[in-house]
Parts: sequence; C-alpha cells; structure tokens
Amino acid sequence: MAKAKTSFFCQSCGHSAPKWLGKCPSCGEWNTFVEELVEASNHPAEVWKTKGSPKSAAKPKLLNEVSFENLPKLTCSDSEFNRVLGGGIVPGSLVLIGGEPGIGKSTLLLQLLGGAKGSSLYVTAEESAQQVRLRADRLGAISPDLWLLPEMSLPNIIAAIDKISPSLVVIDSIQTVVDPDLGSSPGSVVQVRGCAHRLVQEAKRRNISVVLVGHVTKEGGLAGPRVLEHVVDTVLSFEGERHNALRLMRAAKHRFGPTNELGLFEMTEAGLVGVPDASQLFLTDRRTGVPGSVVVPTIEGQRPLLVELQALTNQVSASVPARRSAQGLDQGRLSMLLAVLERRARISLSSHEVYASVVGGVKLTEPGADLGMCLALVSAVSNIPLPADLVVIGEVGLAGEVRQVGHLARRLNEASRLGFTQAIVPASAPDIQSGCTIRRASTLNEALALAGFTTNG
Ligand code: TYD
Ligand code: MG
Repeated sequence: MAKAKTSFFCQSCGHSAPKWLGKCPSCGEWNTFVEELVEASNHPAEVWKTKGSPKSAAKPKLLNEVSFENLPKLTCSDSEFNRVLGGGIVPGSLVLIGGEPGIGKSTLLLQLLGGAKGSSLYVTAEESAQQVRLRADRLGAISPDLWLLPEMSLPNIIAAIDKISPSLVVIDSIQTVVDPDLGSSPGSVVQVRGCAHRLVQEAKRRNISVVLVGHVTKEGGLAGPRVLEHVVDTVLSFEGERHNALRLMRAAKHRFGPTNELGLFEMTEAGLVGVPDASQLFLTDRRTGVPGSVVVPTIEGQRPLLVELQALTNQVSASVPARRSAQGLDQGRLSMLLAVLERRARISLSSHEVYASVVGGVKLTEPGADLGMCLALVSAVSNIPLPADLVVIGEVGLAGEVRQVGHLARRLNEASRLGFTQAIVPASAPDIQSGCTIRRASTLNEALALAGFTTNG
C-alpha cells in the first residue's frame, strides 16, 4: 500500500517543510513542527484546477467603476466590541478571535449573540447544548432568533447554515471543527486551515458574517490563530491575566478600519461588562507617597489611558548578576533606559536588582512611557516619592534627550480630568491649555531636576 503523504507544519504560523525542523524559518519559534497527513486534493493548486473554471473567472474592472457604498455594519450590543471593530461587523466578513483558554471568548460571543439583531447561529464544537443554555441563562443572553448547533463536522455545519440562513455565525472553536475529507487530526494545521478556507468561501458566497474562535496555546499543541491570519478579514486578540478581572481586546488586523483601538472589559459574575472609564479603574488601588510609583498618560488607539508604572530596586552583592524584570513593558526597553540613566545621568543601577511593572495587566508598547519609567526608577533607588499629582510624558532617546509624543492634549486632558495638576512634558511640545501646570524638559537630567532629584550628569 502506498504510504500516506505527510508534511511537517509549524503549529504557530503554519509554515510547511518536507522534514522536521527545530526552529521555524518563518516565525522563529522553536519545537513547533508536527508531522501531518496531507491529501493530494488539498493542495491549493488542485483546488484552483477544479474551481477556477473559465465560467467563474472574474473580469477586470476599472477601479473607479467599482461600485461601493458605505458598508452597513452589524452593530453589536456591546459598545467596546463595536469600538474595536470600528462600528460593528461587516456583512460577509470573517473575524477571528484569538485568546488563551478560559479567558472569556465563549462568554463574550454568547453575550454578543444574545443581543444581536436578525437570526444568528452559535456552533459549539466544545461544549454541550445544555452547558451553553445554562450559561446563556446566567448571562441573560437568550434571543428568540439565536440558533444553537452542537456539532464538530464541517459539512453538517454548512448544511445547518443552508437551512437557517443566519446573518451571523459563530464557530466555537475552529480548532475543534473537522472536515472528514481532510485526513489530518482535529486541531492540526491542515484541518484548521482547510476548514477556515471552506468557511470563508461559504461566508462570501452567502454574504454572512462568521466569527471564528481560536485558542492560543503556548505549548503549540493546537495550530494557533496565526495560521489563519491571512485567511480572515479581521483578527482580534483577547488578552488578560486569569487572576485579574480585566480583559483587553485589540485588532491585530482589520481590513475595514483602523487596528489600534482598544476595548476593555471586566469579567464579572454576570459575564463581561465594558469598562468605559478605564483610567479610573487602573488608579483605584494606587497608593500615593510610595517611592518608585509614577502615573503615565498613554494612548491606546483613540483612547487616553492613565496607567501606573512601578519600579523597585534592591541592592545585591556584586558577585551575583543583578536581576532585571519587566512586566507589561519590553525587557529590552528597560535595559536601554537603565543604560541611558547610567551614561547620561550618572545614576548606576548595576549593583541593584530592578523590577519594573505596569499595573493592572496592561502591556505598554509606546515609547511615550520612557520618561515616566526613568523617573520611577530614580525615585525607587533614591527612596524619594514623586509628587502624587504629577504625570510624566516623553520618549527618551539614547543621547538622554526627551522627545515628543503624539496626542499630548488628549493625554493632558485625561490627566486633569482625574485630578492630576502637574505634568512633565518634552520641551518641544506645543502649547496646550489643560488643567495641569506644564513643566518642560529637553533632557533626562532636566526632567530629573524638575521632579526634585539631583544628578551628576
Ligand atoms: P470562557 O468564556 O469559557 O473562556 P474561553 O471560551 O475563552 O475558553 O470563560 C471561562 C471563564 O470565565 C471561567 O473561568 C469562568 C469565567 N466566567 C465568569 O467569571 N463569569 C461569567 O459570567 C462567566 C460566564 C464566566
Ligand atoms: Mg470557550
């Protein structure tokens, strides 16, 4: 008997190779290759051969003759979800929601479907109908037009879509759906990609929206959502710490709008609840007058967000390498700021272990928090608290210069709304009227002096 055709697939990004590889050349992950069965008929070239008949071929059109209208969107009952999607779900589009197991993907989608207008279908390939009904009851998410299908087989799911003709379908999750025509096991790259491709075709043909749930697993036991990123129109990531009730939603890819919006939710007894005033939430547990703490106004999408940065330093003996830990901010950025502090402000932390963190499970990616982090580090090592009503804004360059950041007015207005009265900002910042007294610094040393520290730089 002929040996079944197999290939090796990276479970993180879907890259395929004829033999096992330790490190994926495409995404750089280690130990992610798994051997999978591939049927000859699944090869993309075969699909084009059978489907791409001359009759169905698209004809070229002049771009300015292509009709377009403002796409009506399926507005969801949840304003945070709408915010991330730029208004709602576009009909005929495919949305992928990725997140770790237990983060709340099923809860969120059930709530969305409970409030959806028009008929919708929830395909649960993981939980039983009773489990979903119980949860929906608890969440108050039962709408008369919401259909439920506990099913794993793709042909049966498509048959149900044909029967019900819903305007919105949720598949929970894509990793547990199987197409029996594909030989591979559920959750493999071949299955996940094959099923998603088929669903894209079906969704576009019927002009219905499909939301796919994808589990992100660190171990790579299942093919992750990255395998599907290029297949779908929108990729949302749902993040948060399990021990913390806060959940963040971002669009990593969005074909119908900007990708930088942030949606914030809180997991409660009654399911996920949108958090309209996030700054307030992040600052509720703040203790003022503690060295190493500083508040930084950041921008997430269009939304200003005040977050607290904390630093803790501890002198250690010279014989052990001093530890550096960064939580919620980039480790490399922290090392760079420590180097700039040492070279430009002559504040050396080489004999101190350094812990830096962003409070509330937030991950900061913008450099506008640099100056705040530097001030928090100096405050921690000198054991002098920063003023409680101070916010700090600015990027720090390698020369020790303080550089401008965008949306300053919005950041300062948010700070003054929450009762902050002074701000250290880059010297080059434009004139802005806000409730905060502005102090300008062109270098790290000037900023340290404004905050009341003496340096030797
Ligand atoms: P779930 O939606 O099942 O996660 P996922 O689909 O991403 O795997 O959420 C599971 C967690 O959410 C579970 O640990 C319990 C918690 N939860 C609440 O705290 N409140 C609720 O109302 C619900 C439905 C779940
Ligand atoms: Mg789930």
